[in-house]
Amino acid sequence: MQTKAVVEQLAGIVGANQVLSTPDLMGAFVVDWTGRYRGDAICVVRTHSVTEVSAVLALCSGAGIPVVPQGGNTGLVGGSVPQVNSGAVVLSLTQMNSLGPVDPVTGHVSVGAGVTLAALQAHAHAAGWSFGVDLAARDSATIGGMVATNAGGIHVVGNGMMRKQVLGVEVVLASGEVIRSMSGLAKNNTGYDLTQLFCGSEGTIGVITEVSLQLIRPHSTELILSGCESVDQALSIASRFTGKLAAAEIMDRAGIDAVSRVTGIVVPFPTPFHILVEVDGEIAPGDLDDLEFVTLAMDSGERAKYWALRERITEVLAVESVGVSHKLDISVPLSELDAVYREITTYLDQPGVRDVVLFGHLMDGNFHVFFTTDTDDTTLDAAVLELVAACGGSISAEHGVGHMKADHLHLSRSAPEIAAMRGIKTALDPKGILNPGVLFI
Ligand code: FAD
Ligand code: MLT
Ligand code: ZN
Repeated sequence: MQTKAVVEQLAGIVGANQVLSTPDLMGAFVVDWTGRYRGDAICVVRTHSVTEVSAVLALCSGAGIPVVPQGGNTGLVGGSVPQVNSGAVVLSLTQMNSLGPVDPVTGHVSVGAGVTLAALQAHAHAAGWSFGVDLAARDSATIGGMVATNAGGIHVVGNGMMRKQVLGVEVVLASGEVIRSMSGLAKNNTGYDLTQLFCGSEGTIGVITEVSLQLIRPHSTELILSGCESVDQALSIASRFTGKLAAAEIMDRAGIDAVSRVTGIVVPFPTPFHILVEVDGEIAPGDLDDLEFVTLAMDSGERAKYWALRERITEVLAVESVGVSHKLDISVPLSELDAVYREITTYLDQPGVRDVVLFGHLMDGNFHVFFTTDTDDTTLDAAVLELVAACGGSISAEHGVGHMKADHLHLSRSAPEIAAMRGIKTALDPKGILNPGVLFI
């Protein structure tokens, strides 16, 4: 089908003003948050209802047109944007932002896929509840995108990842057929768990249009900021609060100094690492007495300031860094974390590599590894991922595989696992129109 005819037919489904087809209007939809992944598209289609999504997919499926589902476009592995010469349609879900009522007894709520995390959090708080996942991109990241990436963030140690909050989903398959598993039943043992299948599916087997979520009861926490000499010392401090941890984050010197330079927030301690530990309930007297570098946030202003030292690292590095940025997201067993930190930093201490920063979700064994180089050669990235895999770690702890790590999937998944995943992809998307090049090469 000719491009013009595709655009006209899509406009017939969603309305002409909901289809963007000029390069300037499509600009922000075809480049990812990091600026590293840049592609092109026939057009961007913005939908309002599951019926529209279904009709768009039926049309694209019939014509063999690739479709890239997109939420807030904050993903960090290039999966939310099409590739160059893709001939794809970007399907933007951000206008599907309905917020259902919060059930006061169960804490269940159903929301549109395009609802931002911040909007969900405000909605939950207004009803006396909280949402279990939080991350710095909260103002733009959507619930559909967070399900599709099985997002992690700062509270995984207490509440688990996105999949743990998800009770049900409404999904449109490549054919346009709709699967709806939104009953919210506590018990339903009737075969395969299709809802969980879509958590972490990265837009490759269906478009999520609505999500049923479990909210949690709000709880008060204390926030500790401590300076540490090593990753092992950081682990041992956080481990004192096992069972009561709401968050446990680590920042190396380079990361925290970069935030300080930009924000003016004074870095409290002279140590190579700082950790933020959020503890449910009160800290017992004596819990921290032996530590030389430690402070408690005394009010909401101090909490915000300490959290900014951690949460603003990504944004500050994106703005400040010169050259090609490399962003990896790895996890290893906690017993290996100190050694892997030292191996990675030793390996990256070589000519041509600059601005090495490691930070992340300490008690998830999850480091974000950032560095810059002059070229976009990915040899160094591959070497770090191989090193992590050799220690029994994962090449993607929480950001997903996207385009960035599709050719490294074998490092974390066995051949039979990849074959099973391909089988699922083929069964649900036989023509391969959904997010080609993401997850599998
Ligand atoms: P997008 O970026 O639009 O898409 C991400 C993927 O999901 C793509 O493959 C896309 O095709 C697919 N997708 C999107 N919507 C749908 C849908 N409705 N149906 C089917 N597929 C869909 N991530 C973490 O896990 N933890 C963090 O702590 C964290 N912190 C971040 C901090 C910053 C400053 C930034 C910029 C990003 C951070 N991220 C983090 C990454 C990102 O925010 C998450 O991956 C988030 O889940 C992406 O949501 P999104 O709506 O922006 O999805
Ligand atoms: C974070 O934890 O801040 C993020 O996942 C973002 C990043 O890796 O830069
Ligand atoms: Zn993270």
